[in-house]
Amino acid sequence: MPDLTGSVALVTGAAQGIGHGIACALADAGAVVIATDIRDQSDLSDSIVTRSHDVTDGERWREVVSEIESQHGRLDILVNNAGVSGYDSLHELELAEWQRIIDINQTGVLLGMQAALRPMLRQGSGSIVNISSICGAASVSGVAAYHASKHAVLTMTKNAAVSYARQGIRANAVLPGWIRTPLTLGQTDDLNEAFLGATPMGHGGEPADIAAAVCFLASSEARFITGVDLPVDGGYLAR
Ligand SMILES: NC(=O)c1ccc[n+]([C@@H]2O[C@H](COP(=O)([O-])OP(=O)(O)OC[C@H]3O[C@@H](n4cnc5c(N)ncnc54)[C@H](O)[C@@H]3O)[C@@H](O)[C@H]2O)c1
Repeated sequence: MPDLTGSVALVTGAAQGIGHGIACALADAGAVVIATDIRDQSDLSDSIVTRSHDVTDGERWREVVSEIESQHGRLDILVNNAGVSGYDSLHELELAEWQRIIDINQTGVLLGMQAALRPMLRQGSGSIVNISSICGAASVSGVAAYHASKHAVLTMTKNAAVSYARQGIRANAVLPGWIRTPLTLGQTDDLNEAFLGATPMGHGGEPADIAAAVCFLASSEARFITGVDLPVDGGYLAR
C-alpha cells in the first residue's frame, strides 16, 4: 500500500461498492479523505469526512471543493467514481434515460475535473483517477448509453493528462471488470454469468481490487504515469 500521508483526497459515490472501498483504502494509506454521495454514508469510519453531493450539480461541486480548500488548503487526489448503469439497447433507449446516464457518468466527471483543477493548478500538483469500465473499451449487447459514457471518460481522461502534464497534474482511468457491489448484485443472473464467463480468471473482483489500483495511481509511486487506461478485470480485456 503506498503511503499517502499528508494527501487530501476527494472520492465520489462513496456510500457503497467500489467508492466505499476506495475511500477506506485511501484513508488506510494515510490520506485525509472527503467522501461524497447522494446516499447516506454513515457506514464509513468516523475518520472519513462525508458530504452530501450529487455529481451532476456544478454549484455543489464548487462548494465541496471550496470547503476542502478552506479547511485543508489543498486537494491532491480526485477520484471520480460515482456512476450508474443502464441496460437499454439503442432501439429502445429513451432520450431521458440516455441523458440521465450521460449526466452522471460523463458530465459528472467533467464537473469534477473542472472543480478539482482549480486548487490543483494553483498548487502545481494533483492526481485525478476516473473510474471507467471494461464497457468503456469493449462492447456487450445492449447497455448503449453506459458504453458511450464510459468510453467518453477514457478520452476525457487522456485530454486532461496531455493538457495538464506540464502543470504537474496527472490523470488516469481505471477500467473495472466485474466487481461484487450492490450494482452488480442487482443485475440479472444472465448478465452476471455472461461477464464472469468471459473473465479469464473465472471469477469477479472485490472493491479492494479497484481501490489498490486507485491508491497506486494516486500516489507518487505512479509519478511518471499519466493518460493510462488501467484494466483491473481478471483478464477480460486481454481476450
Ligand atoms: N461493479 C462493477 O462491476 C463495475 C464495473 C465497471 C465499472 N464500474 C463503475 O464503478 C463505479 C462504482 O460502481 P459500483 O459497482 O460501486 O456501483 P454502486 O451502485 O454499488 O455504487 C455507486 C455509488 O454511486 C452513487 N451515485 C449514483 N449517482 C450519483 C450521483 N448523481 N451523485 C453522487 N453519487 C451518485 C450511488 O449512490 C452509490 O453509492 C461506477 O462508476 C461504475 O460504473 C463498476
